[in-house]
Amino acid sequence: MDSQTRTLTSDDLCVNCVVCVGSLDLFVSNLVNGYPTEDLGHSCLEQRWQRGGNASNNCTVLSLLGVPCKLMATLAKSHEITFLLNDLAAYNIGTDLCVEHEDCATPVSIGIINKQNGSRTIIHSNPNLPEISFIDFTRLVDMTQKWIHFEGRRNVEEIEKMLQHINDYNKTKQNDAIVTSVEIEKRNPELVKLCSLADYIFISKEHAMMHGIASKEDAVRKYLQYTKNGAAVICAWGETGAAAKRSSDPIVACSCYPPENVVDTLGAGDTFVAASISVLSSHESTDNDVLLKAIDYGCRVAGAKCGGQGFDHLK
Ligand code: FRU
Repeated sequence: MDSQTRTLTSDDLCVNCVVCVGSLDLFVSNLVNGYPTEDLGHSCLEQRWQRGGNASNNCTVLSLLGVPCKLMATLAKSHEITFLLNDLAAYNIGTDLCVEHEDCATPVSIGIINKQNGSRTIIHSNPNLPEISFIDFTRLVDMTQKWIHFEGRRNVEEIEKMLQHINDYNKTKQNDAIVTSVEIEKRNPELVKLCSLADYIFISKEHAMMHGIASKEDAVRKYLQYTKNGAAVICAWGETGAAAKRSSDPIVACSCYPPENVVDTLGAGDTFVAASISVLSSHESTDNDVLLKAIDYGCRVAGAKCGGQGFDHLK
């Protein structure tokens, strides 16, 4: 299959930025006043096209919070590509690390957002677009980045190789090591393999519950045993807030900050991850105060996100 790099833009000059490696899709959002009944016709309050995908949402939030960032995702050369690239440009998200593929369909998610309680139901489809590969990564990433975040998806072996590549590179550096993080959100047990390779591990409530874990504190304790020396595990647990733990340091925890009215929870987890990274990437120190500050800010911004539709009100 043909793949090619995008032409360079002024964004390419942005070194020292946060790179998010993961998915980009077209999200067709349907805002409804109550969840639809099966096998009946319904009108929605509003329908719109949005740019979606966890890594793509991470970049949207980072950019709105003033953090220079780039998305590294695959793009299908189908007609939706114009919408997606224009939207990335509108948010000042660098796209020079994106890889285009011929003869593929754009992944599409159909979302039902229930205005009554903000719940989001997603039906996702990706017929044939491959994920970013290790070869793409070594060809395009020049290692000038300060932080590289990975969305754990189906390409676990490829992400393992990319993280290992960064760890090998970091061993050759006295200063300016690249910090890495990985999001383990999906209900894929294979993703645990990534825990031993990154500096920050974001575990979702959904993934932890799949392993019978019942709280954010238990989650960070449990996953810490799979990590490398000095790494931190972070877990947001919806209505009970978030917790984090590094090595033998005590657990830090904060509560959640729900908005007055929950309008749209789509991308709340992606918002938490991005807002936490925005704090962590702006501090040299790895002490517990910074870890607490990061998850507390993550919860505040994620809470604010749920109070409005989309992300623009976070600016
Ligand atoms: C939200 C999200 C959507 C996307 C879907 C894919 O977290 O990234 O933007 O369409 O999940 O799983």
